[in-house]
Amino acid sequence: MITGANRGLGLEFVRQYAADGWRVLATYRNPADSGELLDLARQDRVEAFPLNVSDFEAISALSAKLRGESIDVFLSNAGLFGPKPGAESDLRQSFGHIDFGIVREVLTVNTLAPLKCAESFVEQIARSEQRKFVALSSIEGSISRAQRDLYAYRTSKAALNMVTRLLSGDLAPRGITVASICPGWVKTRMGGEFARLELEPAIADVRALVARLTLEDSGSFIESPGNPLAY
Ligand SMILES: NC(=O)c1ccc[n+]([C@@H]2O[C@H](COP(=O)([O-])OP(=O)(O)OC[C@H]3O[C@@H](n4cnc5c(N)ncnc54)[C@H](OP(=O)(O)O)[C@@H]3O)[C@@H](O)[C@H]2O)c1
Repeated sequence: MITGANRGLGLEFVRQYAADGWRVLATYRNPADSGELLDLARQDRVEAFPLNVSDFEAISALSAKLRGESIDVFLSNAGLFGPKPGAESDLRQSFGHIDFGIVREVLTVNTLAPLKCAESFVEQIARSEQRKFVALSSIEGSISRAQRDLYAYRTSKAALNMVTRLLSGDLAPRGITVASICPGWVKTRMGGEFARLELEPAIADVRALVARLTLEDSGSFIESPGNPLAY
């Protein structure tokens, strides 16, 4: 199951898992921006469901609708970067100019929604064979590397890492592996055109990393293709 699957990394996960023979439950927010996913959902292996992850009641409702499923890998992928201070000179997550409404929105989508998804879908994950909950995090959430700026995004991903760390302890008794994975800097709408990595090989690497995860890796923060990151 993949959230935020209509474009970017999420859509490429859908393509690759489906091509590999997996059944994929994919969520999207806006049908008008989800044409490629909805086309894929006309195949047998992909089912698409509307979900705005900021709407926690909608997350519970989707879980209830999918209560009979088993979910081997839950990829909490939907994410927001917030205003970009660089090229677009939008300073609303820079000190002195912070728009706290935006910070709240980014924290809701990047930190609280993954926690709500974990709580809502734990039964479906627990009854699967692989039992993995993976959050798409970012090296930008590493507190030990952080220096300045990008308050919303960096804080949200640092807190997401705390969420996955706590989940790893709480869900270990149920045999669920939880990890935060940074995919690297990838060409998507968020990553931008100057990103270092092409979408297809970057996602192939993340998928290989997810496939290798075992319960012993639970609680770790890893940069694809496999470097452990400091929190
Ligand atoms: N690209 C990178 O270099 C990079 C690096 C590190 C980490 N990541 C992480 O990887 C994940 C995917 O990134 P990406 O590069 O694919 O970003 P993207 O191109 O901006 O796509 C973001 C996805 O999240 C969805 N989304 C945002 N807010 C949502 C909400 N409230 N409800 C449901 N869906 C929502 C978007 O849906 P809409 O189309 O409806 O907006 C879109 O599908 C994010 O968590 C990001 O932080 C990316």
